[in-house]
Amino acid sequence: MSVNPAKQTELESLLAISSGLNALQGNERFKNIMHQLLSDLCHTIKKFDITDEEFWLAVNYLNELGQRQEAALLAAGLGLEHYLDMRADEKEAAAGQNTGTPRTIEGPLYVANAPLSKGFARMDDGSEKAEAMWLHGQVTDLNGKPVAGAVVDIWHANTLGGYSFFDASQSEYNLRRRVETDAEGRYAVRSIVPCGYGCPPDGPTQKLLTGLGRHGNRPAHVHFFVSAPGFKHLTTQINLNGDEYLWDDFAFATREELIADPVKITDEKLAQQRDIPAPHTEVSFNFALVKASDSEEEARGKRARVKE
Ligand SMILES: [Fe+2]
Repeated sequence: MSVNPAKQTELESLLAISSGLNALQGNERFKNIMHQLLSDLCHTIKKFDITDEEFWLAVNYLNELGQRQEAALLAAGLGLEHYLDMRADEKEAAAGQNTGTPRTIEGPLYVANAPLSKGFARMDDGSEKAEAMWLHGQVTDLNGKPVAGAVVDIWHANTLGGYSFFDASQSEYNLRRRVETDAEGRYAVRSIVPCGYGCPPDGPTQKLLTGLGRHGNRPAHVHFFVSAPGFKHLTTQINLNGDEYLWDDFAFATREELIADPVKITDEKLAQQRDIPAPHTEVSFNFALVKASDSEEEARGKRARVKE
């Protein structure tokens, strides 16, 4: 973008220089994006007559957000991560592409390289007195044909809403496992029923949400990455039906097709077969994967992740 300096207002000139539009070096796309962002910001400052005090409050808020490592949490809370899903859905619909199990946000708490096993895994380390959960299902293609050898990467919170690695009180990779589907595309895990959770109450994300009159709670959910050679990588979550925040998730992840109905199992024999206490909660969820059009679609999107 080039602007005739003689016709620029003082603000236009400032923005052009500050975003590097007149500089030879740098990345053009990045410059244009920064120019748009800075212009919008300056217009917002003008429109709301933002005071110096308010401005510096916002600047220091960014420092606080970084210090607490909550920028990704805030991105989810402001609906921006969900907006990325909306865009991906829109693009698929516009291209007339088939869709399988719907995507929903990854959130900021994934840790890569969880223990991998075939067909089954126990996810909890047994340290919590909690309702046991038998979570199982099948991975298929869009025609219902089983996908053997798919990797179902599962992570969820404990009964206090905490995630291992981020919650130092939990053992390494507690409630995080990867299970390779068997010849019939099936996976099963023994775990504990997760609880919903909220943003850290003393953190900058909750502070911002409180200013907006919003809560920072999520319903009980389980995260999944599902991947297999030849298929599009799927990032999704399932919600456990009945949670009070099911349709009031601060991170906007709930989707109709991703709600699972927990079933109470009291059958001792079945529990014995599963090597899990009775009663326990059974959650069943199947995944339908879409064929990938190139190898890039088979991999999860790039972003900074723990241990990746
Ligand atoms: Fe989560």
